[in-house]
Amino acid sequence: MYAIISFMKKLRLDKYLSDVLPYSRAEVKKIITKESVTVNGVIETDCGYKLDPSTDKILCDGEETVYEPFRYYVLNKPAGCVTALSDDRFPTVMDYLKDINTKDLSPVGRLDKDTEGLLLITNDGKLSHDLLSPKKHVKKTYLALVDRILSAKEEEMIETGIDIGDDKPCLPAVIEHLPSLDKDGLFAYSLTITEGRYHQVKRMFEAVGSNVKKLTRTSFAALTLDDSLEKGSFKKISLNDILG
Ligand code: URA
Repeated sequence: MYAIISFMKKLRLDKYLSDVLPYSRAEVKKIITKESVTVNGVIETDCGYKLDPSTDKILCDGEETVYEPFRYYVLNKPAGCVTALSDDRFPTVMDYLKDINTKDLSPVGRLDKDTEGLLLITNDGKLSHDLLSPKKHVKKTYLALVDRILSAKEEEMIETGIDIGDDKPCLPAVIEHLPSLDKDGLFAYSLTITEGRYHQVKRMFEAVGSNVKKLTRTSFAALTLDDSLEKGSFKKISLNDILG
């Protein structure tokens, strides 16, 4: 006979509910005192009740709650919003995460206001740190529409590590011209980098005399931008989707 031992940390009922529901701690306290919450079938009105999320069954207004310590989402970021938790002037990427609990979520890295495409958003701080660590060299691929075609020599400069005016040249990158995606007099390039310097892609093209007119991130770590995910839409994903 084996004893099942739970190693999950005990949580206060109000903290648990504000983690799993899109409500603040104050709102959750009101819900609890209104006798709307049961723990293992028994109404619980003590906000400080200590529960074990791995074994206790918590219902709010008769609906079962699910505890997920870490949550992962992919947003297809549209142009015009900033990668920030809040901003006085512009919409933020967080504004697109409708009907979910966004309290502890943050974007992993940032895309410029005019950049579109794949943005990972999570509450897993350790994963976020690892994915952004300069030591981990996580791959990011962009589709860049630029105003001047590059020579073979210029492509080679990018491939071997171009100097963009920082202390050190960029790490080697992979660049490919995609003629089938050229449009409106612009030339399409796929560029894969393993760093995250400020405006890096735009500065890499500028360094060879070409200007990025439209930039879309198409992949990050093991994630690729899903064609069916419309601009401004998001979807829930798993840790395995990110790590591959
Ligand atoms: N490089 C850029 O120049 N901009 C981005 O948004 C991302 C990478």
